Amino acid sequence: MSSIKEPVIIHKGLDGVYVKESRICYVDGEASRLFYRGYSIEELTAKSTYEETAYLLIYGALPSKTQLQEFVKRIEDYRPIDSGILQLLQSLPSTCNALDALRTAISALGAYDPEPETTSWGVGGMEARIDKSLQILAKTPTIIAAFDRLRNHQDPINPKPGLSHAADFLYMLSNNVPDAYDTRVMDVALILHAEHEMNASTFACTVTASTLADMYSIITSGICALRGPLHGGANEAALKTVMEVGDPSNAEAYVTQALAEKKRIMGFGHRVYKTWDPRYKVLKKIGTELAERKGQTTLFNTALAIESSALRHLAGSPIFPNVDSYSGLVFHMLGITIDLFTPIFALSRIAGWTAHSMEYLESNRLIRPKALYVGQIGLEYVPIEQRPA
Ligand code: ACO
Repeated sequence: MSSIKEPVIIHKGLDGVYVKESRICYVDGEASRLFYRGYSIEELTAKSTYEETAYLLIYGALPSKTQLQEFVKRIEDYRPIDSGILQLLQSLPSTCNALDALRTAISALGAYDPEPETTSWGVGGMEARIDKSLQILAKTPTIIAAFDRLRNHQDPINPKPGLSHAADFLYMLSNNVPDAYDTRVMDVALILHAEHEMNASTFACTVTASTLADMYSIITSGICALRGPLHGGANEAALKTVMEVGDPSNAEAYVTQALAEKKRIMGFGHRVYKTWDPRYKVLKKIGTELAERKGQTTLFNTALAIESSALRHLAGSPIFPNVDSYSGLVFHMLGITIDLFTPIFALSRIAGWTAHSMEYLESNRLIRPKALYVGQIGLEYVPIEQRPA
């Protein structure tokens, strides 16, 4: 029994608990607004690139032309991966989930780095940490694409200097340099996933960072938290639902039955947004255009029908479509295999994970909450022979 006398408030899910002040991201869950470092997501997706947005998130301000060129070159130089990582990816069973492969490979990157830890602190130490993180950010598309090709008995493709992060990823997956339209779609999707305040994976990274662990451990923690269907896995689940439903005419029956069985509609609901997720709006617009271009209108119309049916059933509740309701569909229309969606989320979110870990480390305090003990104490140990069978 606990010896605590005063009433204890338990913040299950840490709802409403603040762990730091932040200048990185503002999520206005009531007014459907999202800002990275003060810039709206609509402004960034219309005018910026993933690389520039990553710089903004990590360094706190938009780069000058020279700073951006140096940043892009640094990422480009870091893209190739060690042959040992390729062998590791090749050794994984064909049944291995792509996010499991990415998690394993990022962890292994730490093993291949002769100096995974940065021991100096202060400004120089922070830059050394950021540099490690940029190496991970740069190698992640190479890892995901190599894994996908190896499991399909194809040779991995080396990164192509001169391509953007988005274009190079699509190129390494397919061995075709994507056109400007597909590149821009991927770039916008990466910008939209790059950051979202103190979500489960960012908090996981922050907890690991607070122990002063190395960047490989920090980023691996984020990937682990992203694995579940309530967070990173929802985009895959949402697309699978659309495929299973198969036709707009089946949507109403599916939604009615799912809600009657207390199942969740994937791609709906959010802990912070109690209205439209602004990322959803951008992706739906892209998806509409992409569906026409790629001739995938039945699938897209099925998603629209599920959405309108769910919105009708859930009217009056604070459950609205989130970023994942169309992101999987957009990736699918770009020709990407379903279990790569969550790895792509990770690929992009490394920018946000890095920014938050660095910000927390500026005035670090080991994260160590408490659990209210409600069990017994002082029990007498009973030898196994004397316990009931
Ligand atoms: N479909 C149907 N009902 C839902 C949904 C949904 N997608 N989401 C929440 N609800 C219902 C719950 O069943 C619950 O109902 P009850 O009070 O009758 O039991 C009520 O809304 C509150 O649910 P909570 O889980 O407490 O709401 P919370 O705000 O914590 O949930 C979450 C957020 C976990 C994202 C939830 O909405 C969900 O499971 N959504 C489906 C998965 C998903 O799309 N995840 C992606 C989130 S965005 C991201 O991580 C990038």
